Formats: sequence, C-alpha cells, structure tokens
Amino acid sequence: MPKIGNIELPEFPLLLAPMEDVSDPPFRALCKEQGADVVYTEFISSEGLIRDAAKSVIKLDIYEKERPVGIQIFGAELDSMLQAVDIVEKSNPDIIDINFGCPVKKVVCKNAGAGILRDIPLMVKLTEEIVKRTKLPVTVKTRLGWDSDSIKIVEVAERLQDVGIEAISIHGRTRVQMYKGEADWSPIAEVKNNQRMRIPVFGNGDVDTPEAAVKMRDEYGLDGAMIGRASIGYPWFFKEVKHYFKTGEHLAPPTMEERVDAARRHLQMSIDWKGEKLGVFETRRHYTNYFKGIPHFKDYRMKMVTSDDSADVFAAFDEVLEKFGDFQFA
Ligand SMILES: Cc1cc2nc3c(=O)[nH]c(=O)nc-3n(C[C@H](O)[C@H](O)[C@H](O)COP(=O)(O)O)c2cc1C
Repeated sequence: MPKIGNIELPEFPLLLAPMEDVSDPPFRALCKEQGADVVYTEFISSEGLIRDAAKSVIKLDIYEKERPVGIQIFGAELDSMLQAVDIVEKSNPDIIDINFGCPVKKVVCKNAGAGILRDIPLMVKLTEEIVKRTKLPVTVKTRLGWDSDSIKIVEVAERLQDVGIEAISIHGRTRVQMYKGEADWSPIAEVKNNQRMRIPVFGNGDVDTPEAAVKMRDEYGLDGAMIGRASIGYPWFFKEVKHYFKTGEHLAPPTMEERVDAARRHLQMSIDWKGEKLGVFETRRHYTNYFKGIPHFKDYRMKMVTSDDSADVFAAFDEVLEKFGDFQFA
C-alpha cells in the first residue's frame, strides 16, 4: 500500500487536487466525506505568508475532519520558502506540498510554479532545503516539463526523491500546454517504471470518469490519482470511482435530496468559516455543477448566484427540492 511518510493510504488512493478558489476547507471536507483519501489546499504564496497577508494566512485553516491534509506553497526564493514552511508548520498539516506546476504568467515569470521547470538545479535545491527544514513529509506537484522539447520528468522525479520528498504528483501536461490538449500519462508511467523510484507516483490530468481512473491504475500502473476539475461541484466523484473499482459498475448519481443537502452544508460551512458575505459569494461557483442537467433551472440558479443574503439562497434550495425533488439525474 502506498504511504506518504508515515501516512498509510489505501490501494490506489484518490487525492483532491489543489485548486485556487476551490479547494477551501468546506469543499475539502465534502470531498473527504465522499472518499478523497488525501486533500490539498490551494496554493499559498510564500511571500504572502511572510508578509502576513490576510488573504494568504486564512488559507492555512484546516478542519480536523479533513485529515490527512497537505498545505501547498509556492515561491522561488529560498529564504521566503523556508520562512513560509515555519509558518505553515504552526497550522499542523499532515503534509507540506510544493507547487512546481502552476502555469500562470504572473507566477512563472518569477520562476515559481512551473517556471522552475526551466531551472532544475534550483528546483532540487529548494526542495532539499525545505525537506531539511521540516519534520513533516514533503510532496511535490509538478508538470511533465516546460515544453515538449524539454521533458526530463524521469530524471527530475528521481532527483527530488533523492533529496527526500515522500511522494510526487505529476500533471500530464507541459507548462506551454497550459490546460490544452489531452493529458499524456505515458511519461508519468516512465517515472513509475524507473527502477530507482521508491516513493508513490500519483497521476494527474483528465481523470474525469471512473473508467479513466481504472486506466490510470491498470494500464499506466500509477500509485494513485489526483483529481481536480471532475470534483468541482461534484464531490461524489470520489465515491463513484471507488464504487467502480470495487464492483465494475456505475453508482447511481446523487439524488436531488443529496445534492441539496450538500449545497446547504457547503454554504453553511463557508459562512461559519468566512462569514456571511464571503461565504455566500464564494460558494456560488459550485452550484452550477451541483444542479447540472435540470431543465428550466435558470431562474433558480440565478437566485442562488445573485443573492447576497444566505436566507434567500437557503430558501432557493428548499424551492428546488420541492419543485424538482423527483428529478432523475442521468
Ligand atoms: C480552478 C483551478 C485552480 C487550480 N489551482 C491550482 C493550485 O492552486 N495549485 C496547483 O498545484 N494546481 C492548481 N490547479 C491545477 C490542478 O491541481 C490540476 O493539476 C489540473 O486541473 C489537472 O487535473 P484535472 O484534469 O483533474 O482537473 C488548478 C486547476 C483549476 C481548474
């Protein structure tokens, strides 16, 4: 069974991917309930943390019920990253994850995120120092390479392992690809097949059906799957994949009652965490997926995503249950 440090995981674990503005404590808690084996925070700026910027610091909050949880940090300055590690440790996460995969211009132009894929010695050095700084297991999330001409992920993964990381998650795209095209899992399988690799190698990118997860496990032989977009507004995805692993059959989609219950709890947890205004605002992006596929739903969705008052949003959920309670999701 794969392990991250001393954290024991089930066979072929499913990890919730770090996603900016998505992987917050309420969403992570819902994914955990539905079977995610490890959850990660969205990326947190090391510079923001050491400036004590409120926007960065609040992202360190974790609930006990979501463990094991990894806090993901990004940056390219050694000093800032080490100070950030000290700050992150105080939140007592189970894992510290380093983001070497973010493709966004404002991040890569400072050599952070996927930008560091153009400077492998710096990537290895930063990782080595971070591992030395903390007692927590350190994991890395990265991409295949900067562009298709510079894919050295087999060598990179081995070097990161040799400086002490405990697991690696690899998104099967290059930085230049951003999110375009299909994720290529073959180079990730090459990493796994490297005889010198001892740590778990998790695959990421386009795991959006239970069949895709089976393929990643059986055809590519990876140690687990990290799941991002397929879970947005659909935390049940983890349960569906696990059910498929066990039975070879698809689980029936969640009923309207389950969807409304999740939406309600999501909103309530967000309000409890961030207060009424931000809680209402930041949960909006999940509703479209919670209620995807219902015909003539626009008016209800509009109520959910335009109201500033949680009482109105809760009332809209009640109305939806009343009106569409028997709707059969495909
Ligand atoms: C909205 C959004 C935000 C993301 N934010 C992060 C992030 O903070 N850190 C990170 O390492 N990757 C981030 N990613 C990338 C995902 O973790 C993942 O690598 C990518 O979506 C591919 O996996 P998927 O096909 O399962 O979605 C983000 C992706 C999305 C869609």
